[in-house]
Amino acid sequence: MLTTVAVSGYRSLVDLVAPLGPLTVVHGANGTGKSSLYRALRLVAGLADDTAIASLAREGGLDDVLWAGPETPAGPGSSAQGTVRKGRISLRLGFASDDLGYVVDLGLAGGDPRSLFQRDPEIKIEQVFAGPVARPAALLVDRRRTHVRVRDGSWSDLSRPVGVHRSILSEVADADAVPEAASLRIRMRGWRFYDNLRTDAASPARLPQIGTRTVAVAGDGSDVAAAVQTILEQGDAGRLEEAIDSAFPGSRLSVRSSDGVFTLELHQRGLLRPLTAAELSDGTLRFVLLATALLSPDPPGLMVLNEPETGLHVDLLPALAHLIAGAVGSSQVIVITHSAALADLLAADVPDAMSLTLQKVQGATRLEGFGVLDVPPWDWPRR
Ligand SMILES: Nc1ncnc2c1ncn2[C@@H]1O[C@H](COP(=O)(O)OP(=O)(O)OP(=O)(O)O)[C@@H](O)[C@H]1O
Ligand SMILES: [Mg+2]
Repeated sequence: MLTTVAVSGYRSLVDLVAPLGPLTVVHGANGTGKSSLYRALRLVAGLADDTAIASLAREGGLDDVLWAGPETPAGPGSSAQGTVRKGRISLRLGFASDDLGYVVDLGLAGGDPRSLFQRDPEIKIEQVFAGPVARPAALLVDRRRTHVRVRDGSWSDLSRPVGVHRSILSEVADADAVPEAASLRIRMRGWRFYDNLRTDAASPARLPQIGTRTVAVAGDGSDVAAAVQTILEQGDAGRLEEAIDSAFPGSRLSVRSSDGVFTLELHQRGLLRPLTAAELSDGTLRFVLLATALLSPDPPGLMVLNEPETGLHVDLLPALAHLIAGAVGSSQVIVITHSAALADLLAADVPDAMSLTLQKVQGATRLEGFGVLDVPPWDWPRR
């Protein structure tokens, strides 16, 4: 289980160290940094499959996503409006878990001024460590730009340099050389993120779909019919039926196959025929997608849901909270939500839920009600 997530220099997350529980509910007003935290978690996951650098480029590059305030954040009451940046460009991300932790420090490339890739970030430092904090004594893998050293009793250097745009997780994670990096990579690749589930008229979730066994529904719903059928055949069909009946009393899902092309259908009281996915309301389809994700027969180590309540009527929130609470035993779950009602329902359903409220102080995201001594310990490595 992840116990801490840490972000420094990413948008309004100037320096955020947050504790995580089996269920963590992140709540806060508009603009307090909820979506930034979600994206930061996605970026960390992206290092394990080599998509993080491209995602940063799509967000406008390191210059754009970097904290736009002063390097030393102003205290409450100060009227500082930001100053010119003099220090190093540094975006740092990390997490600790029960056993292994990971930290990465991204900066600008420099190098050949004629290169058109000047805006590509490069990895300055990357570390895998044991225990809660990346202290020197806890390091297992220590990478400085292209140079990687690994501790197995004593330190040894990897003979091969690592490309500055590639993570050690993807580049040197062969189990013999760096078993800890391999283990982290496998775990991080299993994390699932759900954001902006598509339910518009042209959404792939509404179309007939070629069906193959699917244990993790895609975020765009392009395999929802197959994912539902997988739950009905090899998952907890009873809980899916219960969730649909509790959200839409008297309703039931089924999947029709025509030569391997699947169509999702919802049988409803009072109708002479079931409605296909194409005919469902946005909120109904969204709830089905969420239920399918949360009842996966192969639950991920970590599932992160960004604003799952979007487009759902408040009457559906208890059923959604119940589904999330049910997923918590088999996955660690992080829910980022606008909805105080969903946050309250989750706190009531899961007694040991970690509840985090974000607030903005002088433009920077802070954890409300957390003093210096309440946040988990964290050390950023120095360049
Ligand atoms: N580079 C940056 N430096 C500092 N602050 C930034 C930067 N980029 C964006 N912000 C600010 O970060 C804040 C957090 O944005 P974010 O989208 O994470 O908020 P949110 O909590 O998800 O809000 P909402 O509830 O409206 O979705 C915004 O107020 C935005 O102005
Ligand atoms: Mg948001």
